[in-house]
Amino acid sequence: MNTSPDRNNHILPDLLGAINSTRLYSNNHPQAKLFIGHLIDRLTDIFKTEEKLLIGVFNDSMLVNQKPAVGVGKVSDSMVRLMNEAGIDQIVFLRGLGQEELSVFLKETFGKNANKVKPSDYAHIMVGKITKDEETEDENVDSVMDLDSSQDFIMMLQNLDLKKPFNFNSVNSLSVDLVETFKYSVSPLKYLAEVKSEDEYTYVHTINVALLSMSLAKRMGIGGAELLDIIYAALMHDVGKMLVPKEILNKNGPLTPSEFETIKAHTLNGVMYLTNQKGIPRIAILASLEHHVKYNGGGYPTIAQSWKPHFVSQIISIADIYDALRSNRPYRARLEHDKIVAILRHDAGTGLNPKLVEVFIDMLKEQSRE
Ligand SMILES: [Fe+2]
Ligand SMILES: [Fe+2]
Repeated sequence: MNTSPDRNNHILPDLLGAINSTRLYSNNHPQAKLFIGHLIDRLTDIFKTEEKLLIGVFNDSMLVNQKPAVGVGKVSDSMVRLMNEAGIDQIVFLRGLGQEELSVFLKETFGKNANKVKPSDYAHIMVGKITKDEETEDENVDSVMDLDSSQDFIMMLQNLDLKKPFNFNSVNSLSVDLVETFKYSVSPLKYLAEVKSEDEYTYVHTINVALLSMSLAKRMGIGGAELLDIIYAALMHDVGKMLVPKEILNKNGPLTPSEFETIKAHTLNGVMYLTNQKGIPRIAILASLEHHVKYNGGGYPTIAQSWKPHFVSQIISIADIYDALRSNRPYRARLEHDKIVAILRHDAGTGLNPKLVEVFIDMLKEQSRE
């Protein structure tokens, strides 16, 4: 199989051909079917080795999987123009995409009447809209919980059925929504949600951890598909808690040693659950395992001495601790900002990655000034 990095660039001529045929013909016309068929063949080939393909525009250049598309000449210019006209700066195609969904998407996004139709919800395509500067912070979003995708995600977690395949669309949608909503926002921490009842703690906490992990990762210079995977991993870090009995998870009092062991097992339960699902980024499985493992190897579950938690797990650990400390819990009231910072500093180098703690505290400082 051809796995050269340029292989993915060939998607652009195929995409342009499919868009042009969509504009000229109906979706059932043999010519449109032919071009869309070429595009699907190309994507199917890519999806043999990759779970998603990102096509983006940045500074009037096309990017494929965050890398500049080279060797495609004028195709790139035409694609930039079409993306700008459609008001989008990113398309994410996900494994599982079929010809029918792709045809509808192309028609609704790039067709002659694209501006007049309300786009459908696509199961395997995500679109990042270009946000104008004055609209960067949506006035209707006071907290991360105001996003429709947050509500869909919580519903998915609440209805998690171990016997059914995991529906990861809501996780992908929320990941893209977080990136898009806070793309230009300098202070996403203002949008952390407050927990109103113990029942909702795990859900609200999970979304807060995703927002915090995203903010820290961006601050470390991470973007694109890698950022999406980190958010995905953060959204999944406590998925094993969905398998802990509610009476233990929401217990309003001290835990017995055996109850504490049950809670601690959420890491391994999460790994077992995610490993059995198709299409989960590997980093999400690793972070589910490692987010309570300390930087120096302590914590839980017990790991080999030479094992260092993954960088992404280290990011999620900081976000996890910060959100837990700033929240009211049945066994203690929320801590003040200075106290939390002192705890993070104390754990830097032992429990937590010191460099990440430094960047995180700088970020908190900066955002609290705004
Ligand atoms: Fe956890
Ligand atoms: Fe957590």
